Amino acid sequence: MRTELGFAALAGIETELLAVLAGDSQTGKGPETKPAPALLTDDEAVKAAAAAVLASGEFKAGANETLLLHAPAGLKAKRLLVVGLGKQAKATVHGVRNAAGTAVRFAKPRGIKELVLALPVPLPGMDGPEARASVRAAAEGALAGDFDADAYRSERKDQSVQKFTLAAPESPDKTALEAAFAEGVIVGESQNFARTLVNEPGNKLTPTVLGQRAAEMAQAVGLACEVHSTEKLHELKMGAFWSVSQGSEEPPALIVLRYAPEGAAKDGPVLGLVGKGITFDTGGISIKPADNMEKMKYDMSGGAAMLGAMRAIALLKPKVRVIAVICAAENMPDGKAYKPGDVETAMSGKTIEIINTDAEGRLVLADGLSYARQLGATHLIDAATLTGAIGVALGLVNAGAFANDDATFVKFEAALKVSGEKFWRMPLGEEYADQIKSDIGDIKNTGGRYGGACTAAEFLHAFAEDVPWIHLDIAGMAWIDETRPYIAKGPSGIGVRSIVEWVRSF
Ligand code: BES
Ligand code: MN
Ligand code: ZN
Repeated sequence: MRTELGFAALAGIETELLAVLAGDSQTGKGPETKPAPALLTDDEAVKAAAAAVLASGEFKAGANETLLLHAPAGLKAKRLLVVGLGKQAKATVHGVRNAAGTAVRFAKPRGIKELVLALPVPLPGMDGPEARASVRAAAEGALAGDFDADAYRSERKDQSVQKFTLAAPESPDKTALEAAFAEGVIVGESQNFARTLVNEPGNKLTPTVLGQRAAEMAQAVGLACEVHSTEKLHELKMGAFWSVSQGSEEPPALIVLRYAPEGAAKDGPVLGLVGKGITFDTGGISIKPADNMEKMKYDMSGGAAMLGAMRAIALLKPKVRVIAVICAAENMPDGKAYKPGDVETAMSGKTIEIINTDAEGRLVLADGLSYARQLGATHLIDAATLTGAIGVALGLVNAGAFANDDATFVKFEAALKVSGEKFWRMPLGEEYADQIKSDIGDIKNTGGRYGGACTAAEFLHAFAEDVPWIHLDIAGMAWIDETRPYIAKGPSGIGVRSIVEWVRSF
């Protein structure tokens, strides 16, 4: 999808579809009050074209509600689409992001290949950072909306939108808005890059192929990249990572990306991004039930999020050093597979008693965290589809975030305000650590029925130790089961936007 920011007056724009946003401006309560849809534009021609239908009360401006007018009077556009933002008083840039996605997803099945979205005016503080944030969010939302997961359908109709234009009102601050738009495009495309990887089935995207895709991306954006395999795992004594991989015919991939900008202070922070890259999780010898097992191709979503984030970082060029370590393997049952009861020695030297071979993510991450530390990371963030338990705890609404350092987490919370992604902080604690003490070794890989997401996080904590660290458990949020007006079902790309913003905050 090509993207462009323009500053033309709306009435004169020739386009297949002009989308404008509307908020519900009704503020009162009680049985008498009716929704009062109000167009968020000061273009008189657009207002006149939509006046009658808005007065009819048929359209309530609910979030992502749409209304289409053909041949709108007084406009050069062939169609006028009104997209609801919900209650105007509560409108946020995140609503704008979704509305942009809704406009694009409205166009797709109708064969509309090109559209223009009017930047909503007025929003609170419209000429300050709010305008920039809306511009950026609109670009992100439009790109996210364009993605569909049907890559392997032979009769696939290419419904993608070819051109998306955001029309902003004339502004003294064009350069700043253009920069914000360019940022949004980078972040949106990077999120889609991650989603494309996650969508690949396990037979097409093996650990080796994931390594190749990472290397191609790194080459394209100018990142240093190394992809190692079995030999390097042995050399580094990555017993935990290797144990997961040893049951598969497919060799593991240890993917390392490095971003070292010239301007970064020599003694400044080095951020270590560690991703779980299980390209397929059968559960291994502790095999999973057949129902929904096909979904376990998305068990590399954390690794994909880190690759998407690194792509955006390489293009946005923040002045901080970043290293990404993605531990890719396939978790399979086999004569050579690791077994419950086995004791493995991790890279850090800690011994791990295997209770359940389906708790494999924490094993590959244990060594990934140790390696990122060895490479000089001063701060760590990991992302993983780690536990079903996080979905039980938080539903499919929030992803889980854990941290051993409040100051580092505060930065992440600030990043969430920009990204609009929903993460909820979950507890760590000695009591959870007690649940994973082993009788035979230092630690065991499962902690029993209760607090599964927290014991998994404590397992990782044992390898991050006191390095400031954030753990993102995205298992409940990495795959969307039902299409929404602004985003297709399938891989969500969650994490990319927040991780990028967290990195930029250093
Ligand atoms: N990849 C799964 C977690 C998962 C579950 C991701 C559902 C996405 C959706 C992980 O490797 C796993 O199997 N975890 C186990 C841990 C248990 C054995 C302690 C789980 O959550 O059941
Ligand atoms: Mn598993
Ligand atoms: Zn897994």
